[in-house]
Amino acid sequence: MDALHRPLLDRSPALLAEGYAWLPNRMRESGGQVVRTRLMGRPALAVRGPDAVRFFYDERHVRRHRAIPEPVRGTLFGRGAVHTLDGDAHRVRKALFLPLLHVDRIAGVVEHVTAAWDEAVPSWAARPRVTLFDAASVVLTRGVCRWAGIPLAEEEAEPLARDLVAMVDGFATAGPRHWRARRARGRQEARLARLVQDVRSGAVTAPADSVLARVARHRHPDGEPLEPGTAAVELLNVVRPTVAVCWFVAFSAHALHRRPEHRDRLRAGDAAYAAAFAHEVRRFYPFAPFLGGRAVTDLSWHGERLPAGGLVLLDVYGQNHDEKLWGDPYVFRPQRFLERPVERDELIPQGGGEPDTNHRCPGEGITVGLLEALAVRLARLDHTVPEQDLTISLRRIPARPRSGFVIADVQAPA
Ligand code: HEM
Repeated sequence: MDALHRPLLDRSPALLAEGYAWLPNRMRESGGQVVRTRLMGRPALAVRGPDAVRFFYDERHVRRHRAIPEPVRGTLFGRGAVHTLDGDAHRVRKALFLPLLHVDRIAGVVEHVTAAWDEAVPSWAARPRVTLFDAASVVLTRGVCRWAGIPLAEEEAEPLARDLVAMVDGFATAGPRHWRARRARGRQEARLARLVQDVRSGAVTAPADSVLARVARHRHPDGEPLEPGTAAVELLNVVRPTVAVCWFVAFSAHALHRRPEHRDRLRAGDAAYAAAFAHEVRRFYPFAPFLGGRAVTDLSWHGERLPAGGLVLLDVYGQNHDEKLWGDPYVFRPQRFLERPVERDELIPQGGGEPDTNHRCPGEGITVGLLEALAVRLARLDHTVPEQDLTISLRRIPARPRSGFVIADVQAPA
């Protein structure tokens, strides 16, 4: 009996044991771009490739309602978040995010975050060692809160950064990291729900057109304002993933350390190269392992069937490392993005399809903009990299360099 036609056991333990390699390993065994499996007690079909992306994002096939498990909603996204909605409810909620994260707002967030970075560098120079992952999370927290109009006292930045990181760090584990994530979410949702109420009552003035002001006045399709808790969830859905760019900052440092030849073009401020570098960091390093939705009807993909109610899994990590698409997927090579235009549904670290009409991440432009600017600053930062454990375990979701990437001997610019 081959691997495909064996009775299918629930693979949740395999996911925990193999992490990012779980679906790519099954795909390799099946020799194709589709695999039948089971997850969380349900039949599942894992798919990859640009055609599969279009299949996955078609709401006639796949919907999100009841697809995202409670442990993920309770930590990463929040209850009632845009990620969990379908159809009209999704369209109306997504319309809150699109203008806020529109391409002409990218420069604003980049400006605030790079200013926060420049302010932080002298304090790094005063310390013997700095863990870049943590330091970048605080820089991003300061920058995004200023941009979003969220008041933040100086001493609140570190605890808030810790909570925002915890929400991302704990979504895919059952251990203490998970409980830390739930406590962090509870704390920050309560704080931001109070802030939204204060903005609505006039006790706090939100800068006109800021993320805070827009979220506070957003309404459900029936015209009712968002409940303060839901507004807090959506505020966090802007702030938390922006701070999560610290994962990519640590990965960028890892790439520059392992492949120092990339440093010069970044240091010189080569904008096209900085964009290619940002895309390669997002492609090469592991972040979202896969995305899941629920089959609306009986489905079939490349001859494999899935009954209605089963799970469709889009193999994000596998697609970003698919030899058919990338040729040499396990080589870190930013040049690949300068050699040919990459199609919309090929590179999917932040989802596929159209951000305006489906669930693709609306923060992709901001992520790339931040990464370009911070990779250049990192390449120009005078520092050393002491001996440390830089391994990135693919069994830990989300992955990161084990040491958090420690830097030393930072020189403040004259
Ligand atoms: C959705 C990844 C940064 C806001 C998503 C999705 C992924 C993702 C995988 C789900 C796509 C899907 O369900 O089909 C990332 C990564 C980021 C990042 C890896 C960088 C660390 C951002 C930023 C923002 C943002 C900077 C906002 C400022 C959102 C929102 C959604 C989303 C609101 C929900 C979209 C929807 O359901 O329609 N992101 N993202 N993300 N992201 Fe991001």
